[in-house]
Amino acid sequence: MMPPQIIELCRLETLAEGSSRGFDLSASALRDNIFVVRTGAGVFAYRNCCPHTGGPLDWVPNRFLNLEGDLIQCATHAALFRIEDGLCIAGPCVGQSLSAVNVSVRAQRLCVSVEAPDEP
Ligand code: FES
Repeated sequence: MMPPQIIELCRLETLAEGSSRGFDLSASALRDNIFVVRTGAGVFAYRNCCPHTGGPLDWVPNRFLNLEGDLIQCATHAALFRIEDGLCIAGPCVGQSLSAVNVSVRAQRLCVSVEAPDEP
């Protein structure tokens, strides 16, 4: 099995606490878009894919949070998700969760670890 692919997203200092940002990783082994949210508790990352329809969550680039900034909000039908675990707590997909992505900080850089797909 191939070792995981480590992809650098950005310098951690460029991601302010309380902010969110999307990244296009469609050319990586992940083959998807993701977004990250930084809070006082850490950085959380999910695939940019709403469990309701499979569509993206942001209505303008890098806007993934509600006005209060305490929940992730889907732009299409306003489902609300907890930042810390991606669980939907309001909206048409209550009880379902966003798909988490493994992020870590290496030398002040936010990185994502992606399992390489098995060879066919
Ligand atoms: S597509 Fe996200 S709530 Fe409907």
